Amino acid sequence: MIISICNEKGGSGKSTLAVNLSLRLAEDGDSVLLFDSDPQRSTEVFIDIRNSSNLKQNFKHSFDINLLNNNFNNELNRYDAIIIDTGGRDSKEMRKAMLLSDVIIIPTIASQYDVSVLDHMLNVYKEVKSINKNIILLILINRVSPNPFLIKELNNLIDYIHEKKETYCLNDVFLLESVLYERQAYKRAVIEGKSICEFCDKNDKALMDFEKFYQEALQTIKNNIEI
Ligand SMILES: Nc1ncnc2c1ncn2[C@@H]1O[C@H](COP(=O)(O)OP(=O)(O)OP(=O)(O)O)[C@@H](O)[C@H]1O
Ligand SMILES: [Mg+2]
Repeated sequence: MIISICNEKGGSGKSTLAVNLSLRLAEDGDSVLLFDSDPQRSTEVFIDIRNSSNLKQNFKHSFDINLLNNNFNNELNRYDAIIIDTGGRDSKEMRKAMLLSDVIIIPTIASQYDVSVLDHMLNVYKEVKSINKNIILLILINRVSPNPFLIKELNNLIDYIHEKKETYCLNDVFLLESVLYERQAYKRAVIEGKSICEFCDKNDKALMDFEKFYQEALQTIKNNIEI
């Protein structure tokens, strides 16, 4: 299975999600390749810190852009999951990654700027879908403010996505019910080269959010694609 994490809006949490999803799948026993297709190598610092620590080296990573051109043919047989992190712009690499994927995850933030980019991402997705017909899209709302006074922004985004889904008949687009809140733990974990699961205590809210997202994403994938 190939999962690409895409959003041309910078800072929406793609690399953080790619790293955490890779490590969580590895924890479940999957053999995982984290492939960073961003020329800025967003995951490099994390990988370097991790490699120089005594944490489990339980997943592989690659920055080798040739993998995208070779369609991952060799790689696919070696791994249960390939997670592709993409850069914060509409690029050749992002589109190639989408064309090769079974699943796209778009992490998006509930702000006006992010919403207009999301609209463009949905158009890119529709173009990709016309070629890669079995693909599905999961939208994850990320970095939600835990401040209850800001719930309106979240609700506006949810309404907007539902409206788009209906207008464009996007039956293969799933807005995940679980959201990831803005939690300091994500930033602090990266500094130690750890996933959110390795960094947090069992009852930490950040871990509970992530676990809820992970289980819902897996179930949605299982129910909607044939691997
Ligand atoms: N749920 C979250 N809570 C708090 N901080 C977060 C969360 N998700 C991501 N971040 C932080 O937001 C910043 C941007 O995240 P990240 O680098 O993953 O975004 P990106 O989409 O990969 O950006 P780019 O487009 O530049 O590659 C980082 O400092 C990261 O630690
Ligand atoms: Mg990134």
